[in-house]
Amino acid sequence: MTFQMRDLTRRFGDRTAVDAVSVEIPQGQMVGVIGRSGAGKSTLLRMINRLQQPSSGSMRFGDVEVSALRGAALRRWQRDCAMIFQQFNLVPRLDVMTNVLLGRLNHRSTTMSMLSIFSREERIMAIAALERLGIEQTALQPAGTLSGGQQQRVAIARALMQTPKMLLADEPIASLDPLNAKIVMDALRDINEREGITVITNLHTLDTARNYCDRIIGMAAGRVVFDGPASALTAAAVREIYGSDRDGAGIDESMTSTSINIPAGAQAAGVLQSAAVGTLAGARA
Ligand SMILES: Nc1ncnc2c1ncn2[C@@H]1O[C@H](COP(=O)(O)OP(=O)(O)OP(=O)(O)O)[C@@H](O)[C@H]1O
Ligand SMILES: [Mg+2]
Repeated sequence: MTFQMRDLTRRFGDRTAVDAVSVEIPQGQMVGVIGRSGAGKSTLLRMINRLQQPSSGSMRFGDVEVSALRGAALRRWQRDCAMIFQQFNLVPRLDVMTNVLLGRLNHRSTTMSMLSIFSREERIMAIAALERLGIEQTALQPAGTLSGGQQQRVAIARALMQTPKMLLADEPIASLDPLNAKIVMDALRDINEREGITVITNLHTLDTARNYCDRIIGMAAGRVVFDGPASALTAAAVREIYGSDRDGAGIDESMTSTSINIPAGAQAAGVLQSAAVGTLAGARA
């Protein structure tokens, strides 16, 4: 089913975080959303699963007007679009298995949830999800004792327990080292390809968006300024998304990042200029 946003807008006071976004996403696409810090990427994702309410505009999934959903129908929608976050959002002292089973909570009544009774089928489903992500051996460990990459895989397993139609990921690899980042992105792509689940992910590096996404949406100041395949992401398009640096010479790679990995000193000294040249060369190719 196609997910359609029309003139979707979110204001905070007199600031417009998301400004009249109109985008149609067919079922099964893998979409990367990129843009500078403050461009509105997180706000857009959070509106899609109604963690944040739109100020105006509409969202439709098939025939359903998502922005009008209330009560049980809203909870069903939130189950249908599972979300994963940069900081994993697991319950650290609970074991991995229980964290994954928590993904089933919005499938059941509150009373059942309170009693936290999970069926045999649900437990089998949880183990299968952990196996699929290659972390079944961690099932009985407290989630907080896992590495970042393992924790993000637990979060993905928990999301799969919701049997979602869409998977929303807000900078899922921003806190991970390159190897774990690859494992997590490979897992998201595998879910997208095998289950046909639409994946919409905010990413802070261009390379990842290029390597993994069918479609890239570039945002600047709340607006969509680029929408197309990676191959159409030219140097000019990259400049429009990220803006140019102060002397207009080019784009500093640090501007494509919202993570804290880049030391402020390195940025000031301009040692990342060569990386920026690489980015532009890549964009041209
Ligand atoms: N709850 C809020 N209250 C007030 N302003 C907000 C709120 N959430 C977001 N904003 C503002 O909306 C704009 C977009 O923020 P958002 O978090 O969506 O950006 P982002 O693209 O995800 O940035 P980052 O890459 O740093 O995560 C920013 O100017 C931000 O300050
Ligand atoms: Mg964000």
